[in-house]
This record gives sequence, structure tokens and C-alpha cells, in this order.
Amino acid sequence: MQMIFNKEYSKYKTLFEEKLNEEANNIKSSNETLKKAMQYSLKAGGKRLRPVLMLATAELLGLSCADVMPYALAIEYIHTYSLIHDDLPDMDNDDLRRGKPTNHKVFGNAMAILAGDALLNLAYETCFRAVKDINGISACRMLSLYAGAFGMVGGQATDIESQGVMSEGTLLNVHLNKTGRLILASVLTPSALFANLYFNELSNYGKNLGYLFQVTDDILDYTSTEEVLGKSINKDKEQNKLTFVSLYGIDGARKKAEEYYNNAVSALDGISKTEFLIELLNYVKNRNN
Ligand code: IPE
Ligand code: IPE
Ligand code: MG
Ligand code: MG
Ligand code: MG
Repeated sequence: MQMIFNKEYSKYKTLFEEKLNEEANNIKSSNETLKKAMQYSLKAGGKRLRPVLMLATAELLGLSCADVMPYALAIEYIHTYSLIHDDLPDMDNDDLRRGKPTNHKVFGNAMAILAGDALLNLAYETCFRAVKDINGISACRMLSLYAGAFGMVGGQATDIESQGVMSEGTLLNVHLNKTGRLILASVLTPSALFANLYFNELSNYGKNLGYLFQVTDDILDYTSTEEVLGKSINKDKEQNKLTFVSLYGIDGARKKAEEYYNNAVSALDGISKTEFLIELLNYVKNRNN
């Protein structure tokens, strides 16, 4: 089962990365350095979890990968911009990302901020190019909502404010928004393009997967190595961040991961051909980077 999953994951990832490389090579900009800074982070690698999730969910619903590809590109652009900004000295101040020096270490803070801004705009431009009907407009609205103050950016803001705070409510608020919303958008975009097919089931799955993903991110910060993770370790503790580990300890965080895993599996009851989405939960729960 796991072998089939790995093969499928690589199939989606390769398909996505071929398209991403083509698009990245064709980025239009009046500024060569800006273009290089954008390309640097887009081509640095990463798991490509959000686009893979979107392509797989699309196929599950009966759409083609091509139908959702522009939205898959958009979500990876937004995710990549969020990482560039997350690593800036005034945010998490990180030097290593995806096994390489962070964008601002190579291009400087100002250019890294601008590369992030440009990737966000490229995301919307890519979506607009793809819109064919009212469902496409709904997908764009959801993506913009979940990327902004009501989603990832809002979560990042509360993350910054919650250093030293020990509150479960605040933790869930941060994680639902900074990480959960983009993961949720990855499964809800195909649903939006298909007149909200399985909206409730996929919402419930996506929310729990989002939490599961961030619990494992929090655990890996404590347990992994820089070589395996491709980013700095022990950062959360150093910066007194509110995480699943700071609140519940490693064992407590692992228990929470089990709960989110089980909730996400149950959320898919009633939908058929969900093997890949279920195996993806195992992959996220057991990942080492
Ligand atoms: C890291 O995301 C940031 C979080 C939301 C925790 P990923 O772990 O998906 O990063 P890449 O894309 O694989 O580098
Ligand atoms: C950041 O969460 C999530 C984003 C929106 C980028 P983290 O700060 O925990 O992500 P890492 O650990 O630096 O990848
Ligand atoms: Mg952060
Ligand atoms: Mg960070
Ligand atoms: Mg982290």
C-alpha cells in the first residue's frame, strides 16, 4: 500500500514540478534580480504537499490534473512566499530553508520581501488566467480569503503575538490559520471547481490534516536534524513559540497527532476511492522532513 502511495505521490509531484519549472523559467519581470530571487525559492525543492494534495483531490472528484494545475501553481507560489517572509530576520530569522540558504541570505532582506510580494501577485495572475466560469471565481475567492488576514497571514500575526503564551485556544487559532487554511484550500479548490462537491467532508478532512501537519512540524523542530529537515532545528524553543510541543510535550503532541489522524480518516466516510488521501495522512504523521 505504501509503495503504491509513494509512486502516486511522485507521479503528482513530477507532473507538478515539470509545469512549475516551465512557469518559473518564463516569469516576466522588469527586474532581473527580482526574477532570480523568485526562481531561487520556487526551484529550491520542498515536498510540494499542497499541489500534490490538490491534484489528487481533483482526480478523486473526477476532474483532471490539468483542470486544477493553475490553482496548484498558485498555492505553491503563495506557500513559497509565506516561507520567504517567515524566514526574515523580523519574523523567525532563519538561515536555512529547503536545505539551502534562505532567500534573504542570498538576495538581501529588501529583495526577499519583494520576491514574496511578487510571488503572491503571480499567484493571483495565474488563477485569473485559468478562470472559465463562476466556479473558477469561487475558487479564486476562497484562495485569497484563506491566504490573507482570515487565513495564513492572520495566523502568522497571531504566531508573532503568542510568544510565551500558553493557551490551547490561541494555539489552535495560530495553527488553523498559519498552516491549516492553505492545506484546506488545497482540498477545497477542486471541490469549488466542481460546484462544492463533498465540501463538508473535504473541509473536515482538510482541517484535521492541517493540524496534523503542524503538529508534526512542531515535533520535528525538537526531534530532527538540520540535514534531514533542511531547515534549522530547536527554533521554536529558542524563540519561545507556542507549539503543540510547548503546550503538551512530545508525547502529548504525538497523542494529538493520532486524534487528528483519526478525525481526518473518519471525515472521508461516504466518499469512495480515498486510499491516497488516507495514505497521505500516514505520510504526514510519520514524515521525517
Ligand atoms: C513548512 O511547510 C511551513 C509550514 C507550514 C509548517 P512545508 O513543510 O510544506 O515546506 P516545504 O514546502 O516542504 O519546504
Ligand atoms: C510557518 O510556520 C507557517 C507559514 C505560514 C510559513 P513555521 O514558522 O513553524 O514554519 P517553519 O518551521 O519555519 O517551516
Ligand atoms: Mg513561523
Ligand atoms: Mg518558521
Ligand atoms: Mg515550524
